[in-house]
Amino acid sequence: AILRKVEDWLQPFRVSMETLRDVSVRLRRDLIRGLGKHTHRRAPVKMLPTFVRATPDGTEKGDFLALDLGGTHFRVLHVRVLEDQQKLLKMDSQICAVPQEIMLGPGSQLFDHIAACLSEFLVSLGLRDQVLPLGFTFSFPCEQKDIDKSILIRWTKGFNCSGVEGEDVVALLREAIHRRGDYDIGPVAMVNDTVGTMMSCGYRDRSCEIGMIIGTGTNACYMEEIKNVKRVEGEDGRMCINTEWGGFGDDGSLRDIQTEFDLEVDRTSLNPGVHTFEKMISGMYLGEVVRLVLVKLAQEKMLFGGEVSEALLTPNTFKTEYISQIEEEGTGLDRAREILLELALPAGQQHCRILLLVCSTLSTRSAQLCAAALATIANRIRSNRGLDQLHTTVGVDGTVYKKHPKFSQRLQDTVRILAPHCNISFLVDEDGSGKGAVMVTAVAQRLAMQSR
Ligand code: BG6
Ligand code: GLC
Repeated sequence: AILRKVEDWLQPFRVSMETLRDVSVRLRRDLIRGLGKHTHRRAPVKMLPTFVRATPDGTEKGDFLALDLGGTHFRVLHVRVLEDQQKLLKMDSQICAVPQEIMLGPGSQLFDHIAACLSEFLVSLGLRDQVLPLGFTFSFPCEQKDIDKSILIRWTKGFNCSGVEGEDVVALLREAIHRRGDYDIGPVAMVNDTVGTMMSCGYRDRSCEIGMIIGTGTNACYMEEIKNVKRVEGEDGRMCINTEWGGFGDDGSLRDIQTEFDLEVDRTSLNPGVHTFEKMISGMYLGEVVRLVLVKLAQEKMLFGGEVSEALLTPNTFKTEYISQIEEEGTGLDRAREILLELALPAGQQHCRILLLVCSTLSTRSAQLCAAALATIANRIRSNRGLDQLHTTVGVDGTVYKKHPKFSQRLQDTVRILAPHCNISFLVDEDGSGKGAVMVTAVAQRLAMQSR
């Protein structure tokens, strides 16, 4: 009976198909606003031009470096692209820690840290004397002036370094490298992680024209007709647009589906009022929503016999990865018990079942909201091209999508309903978006050579 009561109580987290359809309509309107010449400035969904127009043609070659900042890990990579064989070899890569005081400190310190990690990596590979082109995956909203000029609009997720917003990230990186003076880099191409993911999946599947991330944050990019991108000159061809859909709802348009818990997560975040949609979906926030719900359920005497522990009252103690573990078929309830004990909470069967119910309700909402957003994009591509049926591939990455046992299935089932005339294949990126950043760099280099 108590389980039934909790089910009813969780009702505000269930979004009906009808509401999801409506959410999709609202997002479609925002995509158009974001693409407009004058309307984009105040648009919650930024629709940022990426200056990525061409995909690899197979003649690219050479050695490249890549940096990948903004997800769970900061990585440095060395990649070789082989001509003709359409082959890309990841030679070496390394994960470097970014301590929290650097994530929240002065920007110069962050870029010095990045430059130091790269230096160490080059020394370990004996590459310090080579000047290699570099692909920089930087997973934050940037206003790109060109492929190598990228101004940070604002930090999102767990970063908040001073002196970087409004600045050219490529210039900050170069300055930091020059301050060291022990190595140098060649031309740089900047990409968002969605773009890197689309490009690296595009290498395996030519029809990949959407990139989607559901990890620490959430976002997507897709190939838009240039004539619709009012901020960029030109009528022919396509350009990849970084939607920054995480900002959907920042003008209050999702207020009807936000719960008091979503508002609380927003209020206590590093960036209140910003990235509303992301905070209802992505890994950085999902565990925290669950924690707040558990606290409230306990206070309302529906859980833990009305008791809460010190641990449960501490922000961010309920990790998003717990949700994936608890929803795992077969082992989930045992894991739920362990987690409750770790958090010094009563861990009887009933409590474990309620915990599972809370987790699956929240992760389902996340998957369905993502599905509504993805359906909006697929439907847009289809109508852009005047097709009865669109066949397309989405390149996907991110810990939530990859690690949660049921997320991808729920997302796909919902997209199928919301975009019935789109046949969407999902391709999971294997080695991260760094490879895609290298492809963008390689294409930019080829185009530069050709125009010389
Ligand atoms: C990786 C990218 O593939 O996916 C990262 O290389 C990106 O840059 C990440 O941010 C998203 O996943 P997560 O879960 O690490 O945020
Ligand atoms: C955040 C960033 C966005 C990125 C996404 C996924 O939403 O603003 O640029 O793509 O996280 O990492």
